[in-house]
Amino acid sequence: MSTVAGIILAAGKGTRMKSELPKVLHRVGGETMVGHVVRAMRAAGVERIIVVVGHGAEAVQSEVSGVEFAIQHEQKGTGHAVMAALPVLGEWDGPVLVSSGDTPLMTAAALARLIEAQKSSSAHSVIATVRRQDPTGYGRIIWESGKYSGIIEEKDATPEQRLLNEVCVSVYAFHGPALVSALPKLSTDNAQGEYYLTDVPLITSQAGGEVITELFDDETLFSGVNDRAQLAEAAQVLKRRVNRQHMLNGVTILDPEATYIGVDVDIAPDAVIYPGTLLEGVTKIETGAKIGPHSRIVDSEIKAGATVQNSVVLNSVVGENARVGPFSYLRANAQLESEVKVGAFVEVKNSQIGVKTSLAHLSYIGDATIGAKVNVGAGVITANYDGYLKHRTVIGESAFIGSNTTLIAPADVGADAFVAAGSTVSKPVAAGAFAMTRPELTIKDDWVARYRARKQAEKDRLRAEPK
Ligand code: UD1
Ligand code: CA
Repeated sequence: MSTVAGIILAAGKGTRMKSELPKVLHRVGGETMVGHVVRAMRAAGVERIIVVVGHGAEAVQSEVSGVEFAIQHEQKGTGHAVMAALPVLGEWDGPVLVSSGDTPLMTAAALARLIEAQKSSSAHSVIATVRRQDPTGYGRIIWESGKYSGIIEEKDATPEQRLLNEVCVSVYAFHGPALVSALPKLSTDNAQGEYYLTDVPLITSQAGGEVITELFDDETLFSGVNDRAQLAEAAQVLKRRVNRQHMLNGVTILDPEATYIGVDVDIAPDAVIYPGTLLEGVTKIETGAKIGPHSRIVDSEIKAGATVQNSVVLNSVVGENARVGPFSYLRANAQLESEVKVGAFVEVKNSQIGVKTSLAHLSYIGDATIGAKVNVGAGVITANYDGYLKHRTVIGESAFIGSNTTLIAPADVGADAFVAAGSTVSKPVAAGAFAMTRPELTIKDDWVARYRARKQAEKDRLRAEPK
């Protein structure tokens, strides 16, 4: 069985994006457009993938991994871009799949269908087509008495040809050797003065090969993104597709329109996602977890039964049945073990929090290791930074840290220790010990009446003075 090579055209500037960033690096559902094409090709079994780069070549090369690159120094059209890939491809007898890098919605199944069509028919060119309600901007497929007779670009088309709505989506499966012999025959004799890849199928047919079109029902499958409006449309389509797949897998999503889930997010059945939630990066949500409303979780793991509401979780782990939020911020490797509670206005950074420990309100916990069943009162702060270096705080199991305590790191509070509210802990507190800093409380009986009388007299005197 012949192996399949893939060529992805990604050298264009993408002028219509009006961006410093090369077009194919704009993201849809958290992945670059070219990244989506690479994923689809890989999943369709394409063995070698060559990405043709030009504009912003370095940026594209550093963003895309596990592929080969070819450089197209000057952008003289899509056909010219494929020519630039040939020296990298070398001799290739098998099918060659060619795709634009700006069609992020394609699926592996669609590409597999094109490859299969080429292999089973031995056609020299297989062209993916769709019928678009609005074909504007796309190359139209021209049939003459049932015979394929070419693709006409919008800019080269007559008004009658522009009415045709079966279009080329810039994805093809070619017979390798036929592609290689057709490319030198391309000319720039067209409205844009470019080497059009769209002319290759007709050239292969003039050389005696068969050309077939594979018409796909779903017109969104190969939508090209040329500007930011189309980028947003593609993101909508992908969002619906991703959310639908999660729902079919058993995830409850209350409002799929208001839920954004990246392509590398894994969600177990019976998780519940509330509106306004963004799940990004490599994130894993286990069964029974409840996420949202209005939460953002990036590169994190939320274990079974945990809840995260109105909160931001970055690069962190939330343990089984832990409760986070509302209005919590976990970041930079915060690790909550099971049944931890992190409440309103609590930030946890680079810390391990033991089983059943509670950080219920208004705290900053940074660079700390806190044991199991610790009660951290409202307003407790780890002063982890001395202006130069970060220091750790260690709190043993079942310790009690009273409200508004400041722990000056490096800080060490032993197991079962009791720190009274309002303390500043600047020395180690041994296991089982009591610690307290508290200025004496002054109480003056009947003071308020005297105070009010004095203040009122002051006010009356000022008012009586002439202006
Ligand atoms: C192309 C097709 C058109 C099709 C449409 C589908 C041609 C001539 N036209 O038009 O029939 O309907 O795609 O989306 O092929 N690129 C390079 N080097 C170049 C020029 C382009 O690498 O010199 C890359 C671009 O980065 C882009 C892709 O090729 O990823 C397509 O180029 P673009 O300019 O978007 O082509 P369209 O005008 O959309
Ligand atoms: Ca395009």
